[in-house]
Amino acid sequence: MPVTLRKNTLLLPLLLGLSHPAHATSAPAALASAAGIPHPAVIAHRGASFDAPESTAAAYLLARDLGADYLELDLQRSNDGVLFALHDDNLQRTTDVATKFPERKDSPANAFTLAELKTLDAGSWFNTAYPQRARPAFVGLPILTLDEIIDIAQGNPAHTPGLYIETKEPAQFPGLERDLKNTLQARGWLSPGGSTQAKGEGAVGQGKGRVVLQTFDKNSLALLHKEMPQVPKILLLWVGDGYIKAKSEQTFAASGLTDKAAFYAQQQPHSTAEFQRWVDDAKALGAIGTGPSAALTGGGAQSYADLVQPWMNQYSHDQGLLVHVYTVDAAVDFKHVLGAGVDGLFTNRPDALLEYLQRPAPASATELLERHGY
Ligand code: G3P
Ligand code: CA
Repeated sequence: MPVTLRKNTLLLPLLLGLSHPAHATSAPAALASAAGIPHPAVIAHRGASFDAPESTAAAYLLARDLGADYLELDLQRSNDGVLFALHDDNLQRTTDVATKFPERKDSPANAFTLAELKTLDAGSWFNTAYPQRARPAFVGLPILTLDEIIDIAQGNPAHTPGLYIETKEPAQFPGLERDLKNTLQARGWLSPGGSTQAKGEGAVGQGKGRVVLQTFDKNSLALLHKEMPQVPKILLLWVGDGYIKAKSEQTFAASGLTDKAAFYAQQQPHSTAEFQRWVDDAKALGAIGTGPSAALTGGGAQSYADLVQPWMNQYSHDQGLLVHVYTVDAAVDFKHVLGAGVDGLFTNRPDALLEYLQRPAPASATELLERHGY
């Protein structure tokens, strides 16, 4: 979900007026294949973040070696200009910033230099939050730069996953899109891949769809398209202020509900036309698809408005767009969203999704973590 919910300014994207070639009559699988994106795509959300601390080497090494198609990351920039992975708009939940820098514990991550960020422990919180999956070796895991995540993606000769990169809070980081292009270019990840499309799951990171760019922000989407016109892009979808207008204006606080997932599950776009407008905007701004939220069977912190209803996916497909849904971890929900027509899934449990898709991992998460010394 967006870290903060605020209005987008739409002038820049509207001025650009760019769109990718229409494929209105193509099947979604053919669309994905043409873009070099597996179908359905297995996108490891912040790495294999069910089994290891999100956005750390443990999570990304595990996701890679399990066989995920993509390593997903949320991109931010340090005070001294280094791109790194972090989801939240501050460091409190996933690091010990409150101990190491108490006076700056609420500051955004771009208030810190990379050297400062690298002093933080981004692993111990996981052991406290999930004692049943805790490992002593997670203690002290550092925040990773984009370069370090690229190193991980390139590090297994048997399987090179692609990178699925979100510009997080892009208004906070002017020029982030260009910085990202520069890093990807310097690392050879914007060069034409060895194939126009992925030849089997192991080749995703060497094919045309080796990088997918994603954002909730239409301005950032336009800038990404301007900087990297050939790279596939996804507009993430969310119901809320500044995003898809909700049918009901009632807030969570006023709803009387105590469970946010129950509140989100009641949320609907204001109208069919309102949903369609966002899909149309995604296409006009150069996206090859959308990334909608899902309402999960078991609820929980990742259960939001159901934006993958069959009519919604059908509309996106009719416009020649793919649908990559976030964030789905349970077999019952894999079945539900795939049945509704999605073309890829963000998941914290790539091993579970790969098994569901009959693409089993070469070893268990436990075995792979232990092989890496965790
Ligand atoms: O990037 C899409 C997916 O990651 C959902 O959003 O809040 O987890 O970054 P979030
Ligand atoms: Ca994300």
